[in-house]
Amino acid sequence: MEWLHKSVLLNEVIDFIGLNKGTYADLTFGEGGHTEALLKGGAQEVWAVDRDLSAVKNYLKAGALSQDPRLKLHHRRFSEFPSLVGSQVFDGILLDLGVSTRQLISEERGFTFQKPGPLDMRMDQSQGPTLRELLERLSEEDLADILYYNADLKNSRALARKILNAFRAGKIESTQDLADCLGKRIGRTHPATVPFMALRMAVNRELEEIAETLPKLIDILKPGGRLVVITFHSTEDREVKTVFKRLAGRCICQELICQCSKDARVKILTKKPVEPSPEELSQNPRSRSAKLRCVEKI
Ligand SMILES: C[S@@+](CC[C@H](N)C(=O)[O-])C[C@H]1O[C@@H](n2cnc3c(N)ncnc32)[C@H](O)[C@@H]1O
Repeated sequence: MEWLHKSVLLNEVIDFIGLNKGTYADLTFGEGGHTEALLKGGAQEVWAVDRDLSAVKNYLKAGALSQDPRLKLHHRRFSEFPSLVGSQVFDGILLDLGVSTRQLISEERGFTFQKPGPLDMRMDQSQGPTLRELLERLSEEDLADILYYNADLKNSRALARKILNAFRAGKIESTQDLADCLGKRIGRTHPATVPFMALRMAVNRELEEIAETLPKLIDILKPGGRLVVITFHSTEDREVKTVFKRLAGRCICQELICQCSKDARVKILTKKPVEPSPEELSQNPRSRSAKLRCVEKI
């Protein structure tokens, strides 16, 4: 089996998570690169989940450390992780958000517009809705909100109208039709790149998963334990930053009289997000938008 995903910020993850002989969790397993680094670095145990069943199956079949008794790998969403672990607590937890290279380039999954694929985009193909089902039921206003709130797209209303008109006229049957409807490539970035990301985030409820899960992960960290999160887009990073600020007891409400809880549960260890080094950028251009943030449980 050929492994396609290059793990990003590998050394930085190991440093920030404070790797020792403890128990760790990798909640976005992918092709297992970060988990392998934790195990090779001496972790006593690594619990790992991925919502993509094929990622879990591929690794269990052919992964280098699939037989290592210290690895506990499950098919789950990370929002389900706290209820999976019972009374287990962790020294460090990692989330490396977004999609893996394998997911992105597998045309049958519908994440790419480079080749015609189905209107799917689900990371977990055992659960709906697909992109097609979403487009069938969304109003123009809802779709515009998705494009605006998930990806800061300023022309979201016009884009939503264009997509739904073409979809309802039967002109969008594949990811390539959808990309064609969004325009032709001028320069380096195809105009479909950001709308595709926004739609993928909606299909998989990605921002909701982050907002719902991060506070619960603090409950299953040991005091002094670290939560490390890697994001790939400004809206994801903003969400993580806001949740971390709230958990650190900082004001995020912008009210005249602050409504925020001042109970600090964590200390923020990254005032500014950590980004890939020039060496990593030259070896792995896909890492260019990666940002790492870390908090420590008080
Ligand atoms: C960027 S890749 C992770 C790559 C991995 N760190 C590695 O080194 O191979 C993101 C992975 O997270 C998974 N994922 C995304 N959101 C998830 C969620 N809410 N619950 C569980 N897995 C999720 C995706 O299916 C994908 O496999």
